[in-house]
Amino acid sequence: MQHSYERLLTGNKAWAEDKLKNDPEYFSKLSGIQRPDFLWIGCSDSRVPANEVTGTPPGEIFVHRNVANIVVQTDLNLMSVLQYAVEVLEVKHVIVCGHYGCGGVLAAMGRNNLGIINQWISSIKDVHRLHRAEVDAIPDIEARNDRMVELNVCEQVNNLAKTAIIQSAWKHHKRPDIHGWAYGLKDGHIKTLCTITADTQIDPIFQYDNL
Ligand code: CO
Repeated sequence: MQHSYERLLTGNKAWAEDKLKNDPEYFSKLSGIQRPDFLWIGCSDSRVPANEVTGTPPGEIFVHRNVANIVVQTDLNLMSVLQYAVEVLEVKHVIVCGHYGCGGVLAAMGRNNLGIINQWISSIKDVHRLHRAEVDAIPDIEARNDRMVELNVCEQVNNLAKTAIIQSAWKHHKRPDIHGWAYGLKDGHIKTLCTITADTQIDPIFQYDNL
């Protein structure tokens, strides 16, 4: 009997052979150097794989994913990825890509006690509070949640701009631009929502002087 995970290994074998059939140098070229132009911060949701939905091959996007694509400065994992992407890989664009129907956003809009997930998604409740008037005025639940997905993405874009890593790169290298996108599970299309370019003046409360 074949275990379910064995399908992944069989799939990998076929994939690797297929790549080599099209280009015998595929892996030797790819293993030489990593120089992607993009950092993708997306949701862990299995339906939103960064390369697939953007039609890009391995090597083009540096990826970090977590539940509901949240950027918090106390997250060592995300901050390490961000610093490496910006300072070592010198990415030109950072993309926060949420998705409609995001379970993390849905959970934050509800009142269920979910244990440790409460803490992870608590900042989404703050996004709701910040935009309470607009969000609560949307009568349709699905439309309200969709709007929250968008607002959450743009808030995480703002959160990136609040980091010294981004501010320092803006000052010294005039990059990266930061983009907020939302992916539609139902149609496969990405909607662009917001952009903060490297010349943006952010709220003085969040600015650092000695960069
Ligand atoms: Co999600």
